[in-house]
Amino acid sequence: MLLELKNVEKKYETPSGKGYITVLKDISLQVHPGESIAVVGPSGSGKSTLLNIMGALDKPSSGEVTLFGKNLAVCDDTELSHIRNREIGFVFQLHHLLPQCTVLENVLIPTIPLGLKKRSEEVQERAKKLLERVGLDKHMEYFPAQLSGGEMQRVAVVRALINNPKLVLADEPTGSLDMDSSENLGRLMVEMNKEEGTTFITVTHSTDFAQLMEKVFKLQNGILESFVIR
Ligand SMILES: Nc1ncnc2c1ncn2[C@@H]1O[C@H](COP(=O)(O)OP(=O)(O)O)[C@@H](O)[C@H]1O
Ligand SMILES: [Mg+2]
Repeated sequence: MLLELKNVEKKYETPSGKGYITVLKDISLQVHPGESIAVVGPSGSGKSTLLNIMGALDKPSSGEVTLFGKNLAVCDDTELSHIRNREIGFVFQLHHLLPQCTVLENVLIPTIPLGLKKRSEEVQERAKKLLERVGLDKHMEYFPAQLSGGEMQRVAVVRALINNPKLVLADEPTGSLDMDSSENLGRLMVEMNKEEGTTFITVTHSTDFAQLMEKVFKLQNGILESFVIR
C-alpha cells in the first residue's frame, strides 16, 4: 500500500474562535502504487484540505494516515520534510513557477534540498528529457511569462516528477486552463503515470478532467464515495 487513510476527520476552528466546522468527516481510502486517482468535489468541499493531509502538509484532527508504510502521526518534522522533499511531487492550480527563473531552472528547484551532488549532469539530463517528453524542448530557456497557461502547467508536472517521486499530488492543476488545455494536461498526466510508474492523485472540481483518471471518488459533505460517471 502506498497511502492509506483510516477514518480521517478534519475540523477547523471558525474565525470567531467559538466553534468548529468539520470539513472531512470520515475518510478512508487505500491507494496502491501506480494508480491514478481523481477526487472530484465542489469548491469548499475540502479537496485541498484532503490533499494537504495526504501530502503531509497538514495533520488530521483524528484518524490515521499511513504514507509509504509510515504512520505520519509518529513522524517528526525532519522525517515529514524528508518525505515531502524526496518522495512527493506537488502540482498546484497556479503553477508557482518562479518568474525570474527559466523553465529548466524551475524544473530543477526541487533538486536543491537533495544536495549539490545530485544536481549533476544526470539530473540536468533527466530535466531535459522530461521537458522534451512534454513537448517543451524548445522552451527550456524561456521564462514562465513567455509561456501559455497549458505550457506552464506542463512545466509544473515535469518539476513535480524531477526527483522521481513515488507520488504526485495535484491540486486543481487545470483550474486556470481552458477545456482543450485541460484535457491535454490530463492525458499527459495519465501518460506520465504509466511511463514513470508514479502514482498520481488529483483533486479537481471538473468531472471531465477527473474521468481521465483510473479511479474517481467524489468528496461531498465530508465523505468520500466512489464515483462512476461513464
Ligand atoms: N485554515 C483554515 N481555517 C479555517 N477554515 C478553513 C481553513 N482551510 C480551509 N477552511 C475551510 O474548509 C473548507 C474546505 O476548504 P478547502 O479544503 O480549501 O476546499 P476546496 O479545496 O474543496 O475548495 C472551506 O469551507 C474553508 O473555508
Ligand atoms: Mg482547493
